[in-house]
Amino acid sequence: MWYNNILETIGDTPLVKLNKVTRHLQGTILAKIETTNPGNSIKDRMAVKMIEDAEKSGLLKPGGTIIEGTSGNTGMGLAMAAVVKGYRCIFTTTDKQSKEKIDALRAFGAEVIVCPTNVAPDDPRSYYAVSSRLAEEVPNAWKANQYDNPSNAQAHYEQTGPEIWEQTAGKITHLVVGVGTGGTISGAARYLREKNPHIKVWGIDTYGSVFKKYKETGILDKDEIYPYITEGIGEDFLPANVDFSVIDLFEKVTDKDAALMTRELARQEGIFAGNSAGSAVAGLLQLGHSLTKDDVVVVIFHDHGSRYMGKMYNEDWLRERGFLQDKKLTAQTILNKRGKQETVTADVQQSIMETFNMMKTLNISQIPITQQGMVISKVTESDILNALLENAALKSAPVETIASKSFPFVDLKTSIDKISTLIDKDNQAVLVEDTSGKINIITQYDIINAISEI
Ligand SMILES: Cc1ncc(COP(=O)(O)O)c(C=O)c1O
Repeated sequence: MWYNNILETIGDTPLVKLNKVTRHLQGTILAKIETTNPGNSIKDRMAVKMIEDAEKSGLLKPGGTIIEGTSGNTGMGLAMAAVVKGYRCIFTTTDKQSKEKIDALRAFGAEVIVCPTNVAPDDPRSYYAVSSRLAEEVPNAWKANQYDNPSNAQAHYEQTGPEIWEQTAGKITHLVVGVGTGGTISGAARYLREKNPHIKVWGIDTYGSVFKKYKETGILDKDEIYPYITEGIGEDFLPANVDFSVIDLFEKVTDKDAALMTRELARQEGIFAGNSAGSAVAGLLQLGHSLTKDDVVVVIFHDHGSRYMGKMYNEDWLRERGFLQDKKLTAQTILNKRGKQETVTADVQQSIMETFNMMKTLNISQIPITQQGMVISKVTESDILNALLENAALKSAPVETIASKSFPFVDLKTSIDKISTLIDKDNQAVLVEDTSGKINIITQYDIINAISEI
C-alpha cells in the first residue's frame, strides 16, 4: 500500500496520554500529537484545505503564486502542497520567528520576506500589510489569508474534530487549544459541540495578546498589546477564524511558564513538541483544579520541537531571559572553584623558541598571544613542533608567524555546556574576561575539575 503523494499522509495523528507533567490533575489528559503530519504541524491540514477550496472557487489558478503572512507552520504546509501541485510561494514573516522555521520554508523553494515584529498590523511594514501588497502586485497571485479564510477552521471541523471524537469514543469532556488564527479551536470545537454541547472548550492565550480580555469584556483593548516570546498563539487583532461563541474561556500563560513546560514535555513525557504545546499544558495546569476523575481532556500539540532548538530547547537562551535559574556551572563558577591563577601570555614579537621555553617551564600546552596587551591569537605546543620540524631556522622568528586564530571568548555567565561545545581539537581552551577586566583561560582540565567537585 502506498500514498500517491505526501499530502495524502496528512491527518490521523495519534492521541497520547500524558502521565507525568499532569499527574496532579484528576482525569485523563490526552495530547493530540500533530507533529506526525508530514510538515510536522497541524497546519498541514488547513494549508491543503485552503488551497483546494481556492482551486475549486477559481481564486487559485494553475501556475499561480501563493502569498501568505505566516509564522512558519502554515507556510510549511502551503509550501509542501505548492511543490506537489506546482505553485510558487512567497511568504512574509516576522523577525521574532525561529530561524529554523524560516530556513525550513526556504528548503521547499519558497521565497521568504522577514518583516519587523514591533509594528502595528496596519503599518505598511507589517507582515500582514506586506503580504497584502504582494497579493495585489504579483500577477496571478492568491493570498491564503489564514486569519479570515473560513477553509482554515473548516479543515479542523472536517478532520481534527472528528478524529478526536472517534479516538476518545465520544468521551472527550474538555478541549484545550492554543489560539492563533483560531482555526484549530473554532473548527474542532464546532464539530465536537455538535456531537456533545457539554464539552468545555478552553482557549490558551498569551500575555500581550487581546483574546482573553475581548472574550470577557467584548473590548479589544490596545493596551493589552505588547511584544511577547511565545510563538504561534495570541494576536494583536481579532481574526475572523476565532469563533468566540464556541470557546468557554481563555487562559493566559506567561512566556516563562510556556517555555519551561515545553522542555518538561520532552524531559518527562518524551514528547518533543513546540512552544504552544508547552503553553497549552501550562494553561491546563492553571485551570485544572476543576477537573474530576471521569474527565477526558484533549490538548492539541500543534508542532514539533525541532523548530525551537535555538530557543526553548537551548539552556543559554532560557538563562539569558531569566527563565532558568538552576545551579548549572558557568564560566564564573569554574573560575571561583579554581581560585586565582595568572594567565600566561606571549607577546607577538617574542621568538618562537622563547615562547616554547616559557611553555615548557610553566608546563602549559597552549598560550594566548597578545599585542599591546590585547589577545589576538594563540599558539599550541604542536604548532611550534610542526613549524620547527619543517624549518628549524624559524626558532628565532617572532611567534606571530605561526600563531593561529584566538581561543573563543565567552562571558562569565556562559554555561559549562556551551563552553564544552566550544572546546575541540582546534580550540583547547576558551577565554573569559573577569569583573576586574583580567583575561582568564579555561581549559578542558578546568572543566573536568569543576565537574568532579560537584
Ligand atoms: C505552533 C503553533 N501553535 C498554535 C497555533 C495556533 O493555531 P490556530 O492558528 O489554528 O489558532 C499556531 C498557528 O500558527 C502555531 O503555529
